[in-house]
Amino acid sequence: QELEMQLEALEKGGYEHFMLKEIYEQPRAIHDSFRGRLNAKEGWVSLGGVKPYIKEIANADRIVIIACGTSWHAALVAEYYFEDLARIPVEVEYASEFRYRNPIIRKGDVVIAISQSGETADTLAALKMAKENGAFLFGIVNVVGSSISRITDSGSYTHAGPEIGVASTKAFTTQVTLLAMMAMMLGKERNTIAPKRFQKLLDEMEALPDKIETLLESNDYIETIAAQYKDATNALYLGRGTAFPIALEGALKLKEISYIHAEGYPAAEMKHGPIALIDENMPVFVIATEGENYEKVVSNIQEVKARKGKIIAIVTKGDTEVKAIADHTISIPSTDEVLVPILATIPFQLLSYHIAVMRGCNVDQPRNLAKSVTVE
Ligand code: G6P
Repeated sequence: QELEMQLEALEKGGYEHFMLKEIYEQPRAIHDSFRGRLNAKEGWVSLGGVKPYIKEIANADRIVIIACGTSWHAALVAEYYFEDLARIPVEVEYASEFRYRNPIIRKGDVVIAISQSGETADTLAALKMAKENGAFLFGIVNVVGSSISRITDSGSYTHAGPEIGVASTKAFTTQVTLLAMMAMMLGKERNTIAPKRFQKLLDEMEALPDKIETLLESNDYIETIAAQYKDATNALYLGRGTAFPIALEGALKLKEISYIHAEGYPAAEMKHGPIALIDENMPVFVIATEGENYEKVVSNIQEVKARKGKIIAIVTKGDTEVKAIADHTISIPSTDEVLVPILATIPFQLLSYHIAVMRGCNVDQPRNLAKSVTVE
């Protein structure tokens, strides 16, 4: 047993938990997921699994993305990517709902499954059904040789490396990285992405690992914020656009490992319900980074403030407007709006991690949860 413990400590590479190790591995993991697949200097992006089928995928009538849990949140981000950069209609489905709904699937549909493990029973079953109906199947998977990677017509591995913590971290950010690359390829093929934007995205993608390193330097500061909210019983997460799925993911991380009830909402939907819950005991985590939605989110923050909610905002470095109203701000480096979800999700991972540790929870193996759900 002594040996087992030593072995586990070794595997954790000096970190107290796998989850923290995996959070810190993100610069490396993301680098691995784009390495050899894009080159900003030469101006190209190419996924080996997409290239031979580029015409088929680019001309799809629609793309249906199926997934569960955190991978489903990556799918929601991808919906913005494929629609915005490649102008292809997208539907995002929970695999468990899709497979039992008698959905309409036709030849000409491309079905993308996103799965860390590649073994999730509902995702696998949904894919089988789509295959029987003649769809082209594409897998975005982390575990090499897994069931989903075997039944799909093609796919791309995220190359995140083994993820041990039940709460997904690096698997998620590498999924989003890969989906952005795929959308860029399709956008290029369909001529729906301006060359300048394409180049900017390539440059920003290559800069991501360094920007994440910078962001991780805020860990101690984030821990001090966590200490102030560790006894919360509820929490609200808000975001708009691509930050909306990040709000959902932030809430999921918190509830999974700290058992605090948390909900993610599109910021503008707050007035249709959750605003009723806001009082001085409610921490509200908001993504208020620069870009198209900024002013609108600022006014949502003011609404929270007027009801005495506590505001913890993720902002772009250099922000002053939100800083003046929020109780706490966490800065992330500036990047293209498309890549904000990758950076913005990391402070939420750290906040949840520290809160869970302070509450004495088993972060790597939260109660009732499994890393890979191979039953219905
Ligand atoms: C479980 C895990 C989650 C994961 C989900 C989907 O619920 O605890 O972290 O997001 O399954 O798993 P997959 O392997 O398909 O991404």
